[in-house]
Amino acid sequence: MSPQTIVRIAQRGDIDSIVEMDPIAKQEPDRRKFIAHAVAAGHCWVAMEAEDALALIGYGVLDHSFFEHDFIPLIVVKSSARRRGVATAIMQALELQCQGGKLFTSTNTSNFAMRQLLRQLGFIRSGQIDNLDDGDPELVFVKFRSSL
Ligand SMILES: CC(C)(COP(=O)(O)OP(=O)(O)OC[C@H]1O[C@@H](n2cnc3c(N)ncnc32)[C@H](O)[C@@H]1OP(=O)(O)O)[C@@H](O)C(=O)NCCC(=O)NCCS
Repeated sequence: MSPQTIVRIAQRGDIDSIVEMDPIAKQEPDRRKFIAHAVAAGHCWVAMEAEDALALIGYGVLDHSFFEHDFIPLIVVKSSARRRGVATAIMQALELQCQGGKLFTSTNTSNFAMRQLLRQLGFIRSGQIDNLDDGDPELVFVKFRSSL
């Protein structure tokens, strides 16, 4: 059985641990800036196992950057903690924060893991944005409040 996952809002002191678990953040200053801004704005949530509340194993961001709708721009689970329901726990915690009738998110067409996660959680396709990443369209997904 997977250990119990706890999700809480991120604090400034979590930023280094968030960057540490995210290979892109380690390499890209823009991702680090995005994380710091999300934490400062109260938009970032972090996950840990109940047995080890100091070790972060994932994070997700919920904001209103998508046409003023609830939007999840990013969710990342530490590679050693994947396929144990951590992303599912984060997504469910973010869904509980939603005020509006629709929750949007998006991912690259090539991101099979994220697409499968979204399908399992009841998100449906809501369009496609071309020309962001060459040859890898961004797929937009939505979940309606009645199913949140
Ligand atoms: C996508 C991601 C967040 C999933 O995190 P996770 O904690 O492993 O996901 P969960 O354990 O909650 O998976 C729930 C379901 O999603 C699907 N899924 C998750 N990872 C999958 C994979 N690699 N292949 C196929 N299906 C997958 C499965 O249906 C899974 O249920 P199951 O394990 O019972 O089969 C993780 O792979 C990740 O951090 N990827 C890198 C960052 C990223 O691409 N983020 C998304 C774009 S912002």
